Amino acid sequence: MERYRSLRSVPSQETLVSTVSNYSAVSLLEIDPTPMDSPSYSPYNKDLPPVPEENLSDSTHSLRSNPTFSSATTTTSLGLSGHGPIYYLMRIQRYSSYAFSLFGSLHLATTSIIPLVARSVPASESYLLLAREIYQTPLSEPILVGLPIIAHIGSGIALRLLRRSHNLKRYYGESHQAPTSSKHKSSSLVRLGWPTFSYIAASGYGFAAILAAHVVMNRGLPLAVEGDSANIGLAYVAHGFARHPVTSWVSYAALLGLGCGHMVWGWAKWLGAAQGAGWHLERHTGNVTVDTQTRKKRRRRLLMINGVSALAVALWAAGGLGIVARGGETLGWVGKLYDGLYARIPGIYA
Ligand code: HEM
Repeated sequence: MERYRSLRSVPSQETLVSTVSNYSAVSLLEIDPTPMDSPSYSPYNKDLPPVPEENLSDSTHSLRSNPTFSSATTTTSLGLSGHGPIYYLMRIQRYSSYAFSLFGSLHLATTSIIPLVARSVPASESYLLLAREIYQTPLSEPILVGLPIIAHIGSGIALRLLRRSHNLKRYYGESHQAPTSSKHKSSSLVRLGWPTFSYIAASGYGFAAILAAHVVMNRGLPLAVEGDSANIGLAYVAHGFARHPVTSWVSYAALLGLGCGHMVWGWAKWLGAAQGAGWHLERHTGNVTVDTQTRKKRRRRLLMINGVSALAVALWAAGGLGIVARGGETLGWVGKLYDGLYARIPGIYA
């Protein structure tokens, strides 16, 4: 308790430095700067209790089940709850992914499962057209796809900036400045206040880039050149694989790998499973039996989530790459139209 008080009473960069030498077992440097990733309040981080709003709102489950949350939910005289922007941004990031999951499931069905069952590209084309009636209308396309993606990425970036500013305030006091003196030359991202850049976040940015390319090729380009994408379907993708195999295989492998990995790990995080997954222990208790059991549990979770990701990739690849990619080129004027579209991106589709 004495130590807790003394740490709390030095709210400046000195805290960061002096605690390293004075308290090797418990120091502020050990505290993960991203409360969303850290386990809930535990004896190992009791020197700085987590900010209630961020930590408790990590999942809606914890909102309901954690009795401490009631103290984080204040109601103003106007009847508005007293949540800060981080609370709302976290919810925007979470719920926007639900909308994309709905579209993703439909897309998985029409581009992989149906071709897998029908075993032919032409026989599957009508189901794709049918599904478009649901997700490609002037209203449903922005609601199910465009806006959720913008909200998901935008809230992620806003959360990152806000958390950085909170971290700087917490570590370096009111100046909000990371130390620049020669004594603190280290420019590690943590020292500069940036929240940890998880594998889920990294795969998210990779996924966003390759998905943008996919949307440009399959929706943007036909809209810009033809005025609509009525002639575009599985045959257009099959034609691309037949004419430009290297570019197509590389880009669809990246799309499936990053997309399935991000979505499965993302869902694992929403369900509270990703937080306890890893190869190494995050903290040693000093008790060998407890440490061994915890390590085993973490590894089991890691393998399970990676296993589900691999299964998702395999399922999408079975129909998408196994059937559609091998559908062959389209002949006649439609084939020429496809060639014209691919030729619009000369460096890549030579
Ligand atoms: C099933 C759908 C999805 C789920 C469940 C999901 C889940 C998540 C989760 C849990 C995070 C937080 C990562 C962290 O805090 O470490 C995240 C971040 C991110 N996601 Fe997704 N996501 C989905 C779809 C997408 C899509 C479609 C894109 C892009 C096209 C995307 C791009 C990103 C990016 C760029 C970030 C990083 C934001 C940041 O922290 O800077 N996600 N996603």
